[in-house]
Parts: sequence; structure tokens; C-alpha cells
Amino acid sequence: MKTLIKNIKELCMVDRDLKPRIMGKEMAKMETIKNAYLIVEDDRIADFGEMGALKEQSFDKEVDATGRMVFPSFCDSHTHLVYAGSREIEYIDKIRGLSYDEIAKRGGGILNSAKRVQEASEDQLYEDAMMRLQQMIGFGTGAVEIKSGYGMTTEAEMKMLRVIRRLKEDSPLTIKATLLGAHGIPMEYRGRQEKFVDLVIDEMIPQAAAEGLADYIDVFCDEGFFTCEDTERMLEAGIKHGMRPKIHANEMACSGGIQVAVKYNALSCDHLEFTGDEEIACLLGSETMPTVLPGAAFFLNMQHAPVRKMMDAGLGVAMSSDCNPGSSPSPNMQLILSMACVNYRMLPEEAFNATTMNSAYAMGVSDKLGSIAKGKVANFYITKPISTYEYMPYAYGENKVEKVFLNGKEQ
Ligand code: NIG
Ligand code: FE
Repeated sequence: MKTLIKNIKELCMVDRDLKPRIMGKEMAKMETIKNAYLIVEDDRIADFGEMGALKEQSFDKEVDATGRMVFPSFCDSHTHLVYAGSREIEYIDKIRGLSYDEIAKRGGGILNSAKRVQEASEDQLYEDAMMRLQQMIGFGTGAVEIKSGYGMTTEAEMKMLRVIRRLKEDSPLTIKATLLGAHGIPMEYRGRQEKFVDLVIDEMIPQAAAEGLADYIDVFCDEGFFTCEDTERMLEAGIKHGMRPKIHANEMACSGGIQVAVKYNALSCDHLEFTGDEEIACLLGSETMPTVLPGAAFFLNMQHAPVRKMMDAGLGVAMSSDCNPGSSPSPNMQLILSMACVNYRMLPEEAFNATTMNSAYAMGVSDKLGSIAKGKVANFYITKPISTYEYMPYAYGENKVEKVFLNGKEQ
């Protein structure tokens, strides 16, 4: 199957040198081709260039993109997409002044979702998550990492991971699964947290590995949650079972999580509201992608991660939705683009690099996704007629995506 997308007003995020991630000052650059064509063969990008250079050949399908732009699909490298119910009651508590931490201490927050996930059937979780994936596709996302973490028991964690496995099989999205056994401390383990850590190490990690259910291992390493020592123990066990770390860190405090992530060669460390010079120095020269979650900082009204400082120091930065019922109930990566520009003062080019190439790296798929490059998987979207690519973050709240292609197929 050979498809031509022709008369593209501007083809964005063109990538000729296949770098695995974009660092520092390079983040402000984005190559584009005006009045372009894009050729898709089966599930891959076969060619692209200026319309004037298009050679005479036959196609099975042609799409005229006059007035429209083409972007590589967003890669959403941090989500908690499998969950049951919603938590708008806590949202009201937050408006009334309770902090995320206070809600968690009262058994709300993550434990509230855990109770619902434990009670939900695997089929129900699957159907709800599939519906959210469909929504994501409509907003332009082409790859998504999904965490467990609302189980809190081995049984419920495995149930979540099996749901993610089914989603991987059935959805056209590229999906990676992460075991987040240590997301919160169940009430019955309060005061003897190390026993819960033992459960993660002795049961959850080996079982997930035996069934091949998890690509990555995550821990909520932060003040009030899991300590650096707890985290190190769990990451070591995960690594032994072939799971690379990808952790939650420095959302509540400068808790040492970033240093732990780098020490264990994590693929990413995520949130990072509390990141100082020491943490930035530690990340430099590492393979760990700092990943900022603007939706969670917005929704919880938190201080913002020092993204400009990170980029000035030479780091690459990724951004993802963190889609979850407690701190970021939206799967819309176009909103993340707008938040990147408004709240973190990123240039549109920096925001595109953060939500495509660098977030592809942060979920281990940048060799085949995240940019318009020959040989990469043909996951991209065609916009509605728009004036400039800057319009994408500018017109926040509006869905600018008209057509979506995943694995070379129109959705
Ligand atoms: O990434 N910070 C920890 N975990 C999630 C929140 C999950 C929840 O509140 O349900 C996050 O924001
Ligand atoms: Fe998260």
C-alpha cells in the first residue's frame, strides 16, 4: 500500500540525521518543508520533499493537504491511563484548600483509585482505557506509555498490567507498559513500609517478569511516599528482571530521586518541580531524560520545573500528559504544547521537540517514532487548515487535528 499526502502547507519536525534525542540549544530548532509531499509505504515513511521534486509514480491512495500541516504524532511517555471512575470530589477538596499530600494522608488520592481498581473487572478497565486511547488518537497522539500503580496488591497490579497487554495487542497505538507497584503506601502497611517494598520485590516484580508484562519499572520516589533507599532496592530488583527504570521524582521536594534515577541509568525521571543546580549537574552527561508533566503542575497549581535552566545547561527536556484521575485528567497533548509555551516559556519549536522526539526517547521508541524521517513508523496527523505552526500551541483548547495516520493507515 502506497499513499501520497500532497500539497502539505508545511511538513514539520523533518529529521534527516536520526538523533535519538534533542538536547540544549538544539531544542529551539525544528526543520520544516513548505509546500511538501509525504509518501507512506505500508507502515513506514518512505519519502518526503518539496512538491516540485515529486517524481512521477503511481499511488494506491492520495490525500490533498492543501492549507494543512503535517506533524509527527505526539508521544505521551507518562500516563496512568488504566483507572476506574473519576475523582472530582477531591478536586473540590483541593479548591477548598487541601493539598495533594493532605488528601493522600486521609486515604484519598491514589488509595481512592486503588480501591476502585481492585473492585473493577479486567474487562471494565480495558473498555474504559480503550475509550481514553481513542480520545488520545483524536488529539494526535501516536504512542503512549501506560503505568500500573492503582493496584496496591499483587493481584490488582497484575490485572492492570494484563489490561495494558490487551491494549497493546488491540490498539493501533504503540504502547509501552510500566510496573509502578510502589505508587502509594496501602493503609495496612503504614508504619512498616519496608514490608510493602518487600512485597513489590518478592511478588510483583517476579510475577510481572514471568508473564512478560512490563517493559519498565517505576517508583514514586518522593517526600511522603517512597524513600531513595526503598527506590534503590526496587530498581535493583526490576533491573535484574530486565525492566529499565523510569521513575517519578522531585514532585514534592528535592528528595534525591533524580540522583537515584541517574545512578540506575533510568530512561527518564519525571515531574521535577523541585530541581536545583545539583540535580541539573547530575543529569548532564547521563542517559536519563528529564520529563516534565505540565498538566499535573497546572491541575495541582504547583511551582513549575525549571525547564529553561535545564535547556540552558544543555539538557534535553521531554513533556507528557501524565493522564490520570488525580492530578491530570486530560489525555490532550495539544494542551501540553500550550502549557509548555505559556507556563514554561518554551518556544513552539522547543515544545514540539519535547512532546515528540524527546518524549519518544523517554519511552524508548525514538528509533522508530517522534519525527518525520525516512524509515520511521508512519504515525502522523494532518491539521485542519491553519495559518502557521505557531497556531498549534497558540489556539489552546481547540482540536487542530483533522486526520490521523497510525502505522501508515488512516484512522
Ligand atoms: O504522576 N505523582 C504521582 N502519581 C500520579 C498521580 C496519581 C494520582 O493522583 O492518582 C502523578 O501525578
Ligand atoms: Fe505519574
